[in-house]
Amino acid sequence: MSDIATATEKQGMDCLVIHGGRPLAGSVEVSGAKNAALPLMAATLLAPGEHVITRVPRLADTATMVRVLEALGAKVRWDATGMHVDTRSTSSVEAPYELVKTMRASIYVLGPLLARFGRARVSLPGGCAWGPRPVDLHIKGMEALGATIEIDEGYIVATAPQGNGAPGGLRGTRFDFPISSVGATGNLLMAAVLARGTSEITNVAIEPEITQLAEMLVAMGAQIEGIGTTHLTVEGVESLSPTSIEVIPDRIEAGTYLAAGAMTLGDVTVTRCRPAHLAATLQALERAGSRVTIDGSTVSLQSGGRPRGADLVTAVFPGFPTDMQAQMMAVATIADGTSTITDTIYHDRFAHAPELARMGADIRVDGNVAVVVGRDRLKGAPVMATDLRASAALVLAGLAAEGETRVSRIYHLDRGYEALAEKLAMLGAQVERRADTE
Ligand code: EPU
Repeated sequence: MSDIATATEKQGMDCLVIHGGRPLAGSVEVSGAKNAALPLMAATLLAPGEHVITRVPRLADTATMVRVLEALGAKVRWDATGMHVDTRSTSSVEAPYELVKTMRASIYVLGPLLARFGRARVSLPGGCAWGPRPVDLHIKGMEALGATIEIDEGYIVATAPQGNGAPGGLRGTRFDFPISSVGATGNLLMAAVLARGTSEITNVAIEPEITQLAEMLVAMGAQIEGIGTTHLTVEGVESLSPTSIEVIPDRIEAGTYLAAGAMTLGDVTVTRCRPAHLAATLQALERAGSRVTIDGSTVSLQSGGRPRGADLVTAVFPGFPTDMQAQMMAVATIADGTSTITDTIYHDRFAHAPELARMGADIRVDGNVAVVVGRDRLKGAPVMATDLRASAALVLAGLAAEGETRVSRIYHLDRGYEALAEKLAMLGAQVERRADTE
């Protein structure tokens, strides 16, 4: 596994060279969801034994989570069936800065460590390319369960009182999230399942990735009611057992390939996905003029010609996902008409806008609102982005643009898209991964 991490690091400075202007056509299989796999991997810490997680995407972020688990003493191996995580030998409660700084989602180990061992030392993630992205709700959740939190040399040091019979000494609580948080919901849930007594947790995130985490915890022996709703009741248990689970398909990856179809006036099919998780994205693509058909776990998109301008507002699930905002902005840049795109989840997630402008896009950003006036065409250019979905938007723009687009710093893409260049090539894109010499 470390080999994958090293290889990924080496290739991190690669760029993608795209010759755009050809409609994408064909079919690609969706990978397992990064944002589901990461908390499932962290949840293995709750029960000593060997867990099997299948359909874990091979990405830089899952490789980082493997390194976090290994730093804690777990043993991780991949085979043809999937990822095997053996948590019997867990020997440390420290998630080091070197790993957490490369992936914020490392904070998912906080809840499980505290719940099982009564102690955790997890580096604070720090800032992010599009703003502060605080972790205060993760911390407040742990405090509500009885933990004492100190910040020491950049680390969250969490300690639970001992002696109440729960493995880690946490106690059940009532916690109402002031805003919906995917990660903080996951962390609090993982901690509450081994706390003593009942927890009532309200205004929880209901993203499919969190629902799957709750389902995994139940398969491990946790008692959780209200799964899929914003009100969870957790009855703490004394111990949990290892389990096997298949990661749900990546709704954002699926949406990205469909958006590539819309953007290139093509005809793209994604297979092995869950259309129900994609509803808001499919509606957005339809509003932009594409024809969408669903057949079981397969979704096909047929372009209806030049996209139409359409307004978009991101929201928590089942609303339109912020992780698709950049890709749909790329579509809007070549639409007939004007689109107003509002991100209500993050207020500064528009790193792609100035880069798209380098390709000829007309975008005006004001706070968390971007107004995109569609242009007839984009023109290829060297571009780079500072985060994963922004980079995806630049790739989509490059696929539609005239001439050559070079997307640098594709380590961002390696964090979240499995075999991106290969999958795009299967759809007929002219795309090549090269060492970035500039
Ligand atoms: N927030 C706080 N305090 C906290 C936690 C969050 O104020 O302690 C705020 C955030 O700043 C944001 C809002 O709450 O304004 C929602 O953030 P959330 O906690 O839901 O985000 P997250 O768990 O950090 C996950 C995904 C993101 C995705 C968001 C929103 C993972 C590993 N990451 O992040 O995915 O954008 O939910 O859906 O699941 C991506 O895949 O590109 C990505 C960034």
